[in-house]
Amino acid sequence: MKILHLSAECYPAAKVGGLADVVGSLPKYLNQLDHQCEVVIPKYETQWLEDQDYTKIHEGSLMMAGEEVGFSILKVKDAKLGFPLYVVSIPGRFDRPGIYIDPWSGHGYWDELERFVSFQIAVMEWMKNSHEQPDVIHCHDHHTSLVPFMLSECNRYRNMSGIPSVITVHNAEYHGEVDIDNFKLLPAFNIDNIGLLDWDGQLNSLAAGLKCAWRITTVSKSYMRELAEESNGLEILFQQERSKSQGILNGIDTEVWDPAADELIEYNFSFRNRKKGKKENKHSLCERFDLNLELPMISFIGRLVREKGADLLPDLFNRILKADIEVNFILLGTGDPQLHEIFAQMEGKHMGYFDATLEYNEQLAHQIYAGSDFILMPSRVEPCGLNQMFAMRYGTVPIVRAVGGLKDTVVDISEEDGYGITFNDFTLEAAEEAIVRAVDLFSNEKQYSEVLAKIMKLDFSWKSSAQEYEKMYKALISK
Ligand code: GLC
Repeated sequence: MKILHLSAECYPAAKVGGLADVVGSLPKYLNQLDHQCEVVIPKYETQWLEDQDYTKIHEGSLMMAGEEVGFSILKVKDAKLGFPLYVVSIPGRFDRPGIYIDPWSGHGYWDELERFVSFQIAVMEWMKNSHEQPDVIHCHDHHTSLVPFMLSECNRYRNMSGIPSVITVHNAEYHGEVDIDNFKLLPAFNIDNIGLLDWDGQLNSLAAGLKCAWRITTVSKSYMRELAEESNGLEILFQQERSKSQGILNGIDTEVWDPAADELIEYNFSFRNRKKGKKENKHSLCERFDLNLELPMISFIGRLVREKGADLLPDLFNRILKADIEVNFILLGTGDPQLHEIFAQMEGKHMGYFDATLEYNEQLAHQIYAGSDFILMPSRVEPCGLNQMFAMRYGTVPIVRAVGGLKDTVVDISEEDGYGITFNDFTLEAAEEAIVRAVDLFSNEKQYSEVLAKIMKLDFSWKSSAQEYEKMYKALISK
């Protein structure tokens, strides 16, 4: 089957979060099952994209609100990603270094809507003019979720209305909501059907995608259930569309995330020499951040935003210090500027126990997974979560709030065959108790080493999930 994935992110070309990891690996594993997946993203000015060579595949122009916009489709040469990667170059819209946020100002780009609408129309125009159309168009999150609407509603694309479309929801906190008048940016459609774009009087890209796509998937089964109860205003829509929805758990790219071969970590290790490997990598982190090797090392990696529970961390850490529980805490990530300030202050105040690296740093992330004893994920919302899976593959025990994909991938040590620490309530008390349990586990050498052996043996590869996607595509095509 030929499947075209449309996304705003794809690792290693352009990454903000887990969306990039998934779009950068699922197609590769589907192709190993003998499919032809291709990925299309905008051509930003990220370092990786700047460093590539390209072949021009198509050149065209599109109309957006009466204005002609030129674009070209370029194919990345020799990327060795396991799938062909195409980028849409739209001068004036994407030739900037940031993906969503301007790195200079720290704010989102003012023309986000025009950027992603032009990206989506460009893809539609390219497909319309290409003689080989895909069997399925697979869209990811709201930046590409107007495509299912255009496929089914826009007069220009009648010839493509039979192509099945899928929308995968990686994060339903963001909808791409704007004033309804912006429908004028889209190619002509029967105005009687404007309701398909509308949610609560606004043009809501994600809602339009949910209504128009042939199939909806989310990235874990628990998150699928949670969305019907809490999805930032789209609950009823998720309930209405239940019959065409399903949760498929993400996998991880076990070739990129392999402690035995990972070039980004100091000491490679495998299951066989796991204890030594963990120790050496921890040692390197302790030297780098001036931390005590004997203490349990708990880390947080990720976007510093509400969803991830990053705002809980300052008070949590203070409580732990007050309770005389000795741990090292490492934090890596960027996000809310207010939190940046708080974490920078904490670092000064708790030298030797706390380190915050407030940047995006893929190399350091790998080293932290390799060297930490625990990874902490106190998420309010977690559609799937990949960090707990990366961590476990590197022998790092997860401490997670049992929500969404975290609930589906981490079994508490109190249960039979358990291997992680989970807590239910989003409260300081519950998170503190979880940390106390982690410290206890760490001090029990025998139990800790059993857990270490268990997590390193777990299979979080794409194997079974890629088959579930395959099954879904097949069912759509036969419709
Ligand atoms: C988003 C979600 C995360 C998920 C990822 C990939 O970043 O927040 O939970 O793992 O997408 O699907």
